Amino acid sequence: MWELVKIDPHLDLNSLYYYLMVTTHLRETCVVAENGHQFLGFASGMILPREPNTLFVWQIATTPSYRGRGLGTTLLEELLERPYRAPVRYLSATITPDNDASWHLFHKIAKRHKTRLATLGQLKRQWFAPENHDEEQIIKIGPFPIQP
Ligand SMILES: CC(C)(COP(=O)(O)OP(=O)(O)OC[C@H]1O[C@@H](n2cnc3c(N)ncnc32)[C@H](O)[C@@H]1OP(=O)(O)O)[C@@H](O)C(=O)NCCC(=O)NCCS
Repeated sequence: MWELVKIDPHLDLNSLYYYLMVTTHLRETCVVAENGHQFLGFASGMILPREPNTLFVWQIATTPSYRGRGLGTTLLEELLERPYRAPVRYLSATITPDNDASWHLFHKIAKRHKTRLATLGQLKRQWFAPENHDEEQIIKIGPFPIQP
C-alpha cells in the first residue's frame, strides 16, 4: 500500500506505521486486491465514529497497469457489502477537483446504486499549509437502501 501511494501524485503518503495501523485496527474497512503474489490495489477507510451509518473512504489506489478495468469499483463494492454493526447508508470521501479518475469512480458507484453523489463542502487549500496541497471536495454518496 505504502509503495503504491508513494508513486501516485494524487495521494498523500502516510508513514509505514499508519498503514500498519490501518490494516490492523481498521481491517474491517480495509481491502486489498492481489493476483497471486502481485499486489494490485487497496481501499482503506473507516466507519465514522459519530456517523455509524457512513463509510468514509480514506485512500483508494489501483496499480497503474490495472486502471480502467473495474478494479477500483470492485474494491469499493467489497467494502460496501461487508457486514458492519450498523447498516451503511452513506459513503463519504474527499477528492481534489482535478482527479478525473476518482470523480468517475465515485459517480459510477452512485449510479450503480441508483443514488446520488452530493458535494458537501471542501477542505480548503489554506488548511493544508505549509504543504502545497490542492483543496479537497467533501462528497457523500447515498442513501443506499437498507439491506433486508
Ligand atoms: C481512482 C482509481 C482508484 C480508480 O481505479 P480504477 O481501477 O481505474 O477504477 P475502475 O476501473 O473501476 O473505473 C471506475 C470508472 O472510472 C473511469 N475512469 C478510470 N480512470 C479514469 C480516468 N483517468 N479518467 C476518466 N475516467 C476514468 C472508468 O472508465 C470507470 O467508469 P466506467 O466503468 O463508466 O467506464 C485509480 O485511478 C487510482 O488509483 N488513481 C490514483 C489514486 C487516486 O487518485 N485515488 C483516489 C483518491 S480520492
